[in-house]
Amino acid sequence: MTNKTFDRRKFIVASGAAAGLAGFPAIVRAQSAKIKVGLMLPYTGTFAPLGVAIENGFRLALLEAGGKFAGREIEFSKVDDESDPAKSTDNVNKLVTRDKVDMLLGTVHSGVAAGMIRVTREAGTLHIIPNAGFAPATGPLCAPNIFRTSFSNWQSGFAMGTVMAKRPKVNNVVTLSWRYAAGEECVKGFKDAFLKASGKKIAKELWIPFPNVEFQALLTEIASIKPDAVFSFFAGAGAGKYLKDYAQAGLMKSVPLVGPGFLTDGVLEGMGGVAEGVETALHYGDGIETPKNKAFRLSYAKTYKLQPDVYAVAGYDSGLLYAAGLNAVKGDISKKAELIKAMEKAKIDSPRGAWTLSKAHNPIQDHYLRKVRGNENRVSEIAVKALDDDPTMVAACKMPA
Ligand code: PHB
Repeated sequence: MTNKTFDRRKFIVASGAAAGLAGFPAIVRAQSAKIKVGLMLPYTGTFAPLGVAIENGFRLALLEAGGKFAGREIEFSKVDDESDPAKSTDNVNKLVTRDKVDMLLGTVHSGVAAGMIRVTREAGTLHIIPNAGFAPATGPLCAPNIFRTSFSNWQSGFAMGTVMAKRPKVNNVVTLSWRYAAGEECVKGFKDAFLKASGKKIAKELWIPFPNVEFQALLTEIASIKPDAVFSFFAGAGAGKYLKDYAQAGLMKSVPLVGPGFLTDGVLEGMGGVAEGVETALHYGDGIETPKNKAFRLSYAKTYKLQPDVYAVAGYDSGLLYAAGLNAVKGDISKKAELIKAMEKAKIDSPRGAWTLSKAHNPIQDHYLRKVRGNENRVSEIAVKALDDDPTMVAACKMPA
């Protein structure tokens, strides 16, 4: 890691010289060069809208900071990761090895994030995960240079499980999710909370490969089981298709559909109200009546002519977290240990409510119960306050000093 830091300084000084700053002391040259931020996000496929919202959110934080973080301009390099785990290593190397970015922001899909972490742990590149809830990232694979501004998949499943565990009429639940890390970890979180209450059981766990959306046979099976509720993890365009198919199968009224908030976040517009009443749990909701959230929503809508969602918030908060680190070192990225310390201690004044990081670099945050009303995920109550991660992950993170 020391060698990598040294290389990066050499790189910064070299680009300062190239920019005609050769007559200035090295530190001035280093601080005059632009900071390189790599965006590795999905810009095509089922998660494309999520990637765009994350980038928009990050850029909004930069815009609101006057276009610079700690007086430093930012230069972006972008890679479309296509939510394809098989291409992850090649894609992350384009940013880490070829472009030598100072900070890598990415990504959405847990399987792709797994490949990114393998590279950034080794290279020591500062890495902010703005979505992927991949459990090991803040568990056995935790590292000083890896931060997550979003959630662990387990957290959102656990929050919904906590709510359902208290409902006397919900005893028999079917789960149906994409079969990959995110779906599996959400379902684990749900079960960890739900099955703690007496009399609760999972009638059946149903799975479909990512990113398939052929739900018919599975919905027919649910209709025949007649559970008290269905818990599902889907997101992005796939979630939209699922909600439509669930309604079309006539299940919306007879079998309540619940899930982590990804099921309904950023997908309600143009759906003709099919998801009305669907309840989900998440660390964000549309009707949070704080000055910070109101200002954020207004600013985002004005800038992009779009309504923000949880992904936009994560991008925005990633900008705030990085700015907190950069401000502490006055933009001198060669002071990496200090920068990391400041990020670890940051209290982020977020549209979602204030949050801090756990020792494993995962947000500790309130989770809300939300209900779909029109195009919004309206907050109805706090599902779990200041929720930390899966205790097995917390214990598995041995953060090197
Ligand atoms: C994930 O792969 O971890 C993931 C993807 C999309 C979401 C949430 C989690 O909305």
